Amino acid sequence: MKNDLERCLLSREQIMEKVRYLGEQISNDYKGKDLVVVGILKGAIVFLADLMREIKIPIYLDFMAVSSYGSSTKSSGVVRILKDLEISIEGKDVLIVEDIVDSGLTLKYLVENLRSRKAKSVKICTLLDKPARRTTKVSIDYNGFVIPDEFAVGYGLDYKNKYRNLPGIYILKEKIYKG
Ligand code: IMP
Ligand code: MG
Repeated sequence: MKNDLERCLLSREQIMEKVRYLGEQISNDYKGKDLVVVGILKGAIVFLADLMREIKIPIYLDFMAVSSYGSSTKSSGVVRILKDLEISIEGKDVLIVEDIVDSGLTLKYLVENLRSRKAKSVKICTLLDKPARRTTKVSIDYNGFVIPDEFAVGYGLDYKNKYRNLPGIYILKEKIYKG
């Protein structure tokens, strides 16, 4: 697995420091509110598992799985729901937790979809933001790190469903996804 990696982008320690900071912000902002944290499977699970333990107020937890049609490194914007929420979000404050915002198409769809279910508010928390390839405007409320236009894996992020279990975030060698 290590042979496929170009370099380490973010260590587990760097990530944890940021996760603690984000958890504190979220705890302050949602004090006294009915917060539903929606993790987007599968990429966000590692981030979410760490982040939720840094949130010091009561939360509801739920998941969605979506697949966006396209190649393994680029999404098309046509999104299909593979697994939907189990709890009702009507009148509740929703925080979507994602691994990375790239083109922004997945999140644009998700925000519109959840808003249409009469959520009181819908906000976005992402660990990584790759603004170079944004094709649609999404407003990110909580962001961990802005990263360059390269393919990142680890800490939940995958390439063809591999590398999710790496503890830090690494840049994949170009020859792996272009070769
Ligand atoms: P978007 O709809 O283009 O914003 O795509 C977001 C999704 O693309 C993320 O949830 C990831 O699954 C995937 N993705 C985009 N860039 C990367 C990357 O650098 N590494 C791993 N997955 C990525
Ligand atoms: Mg993904």
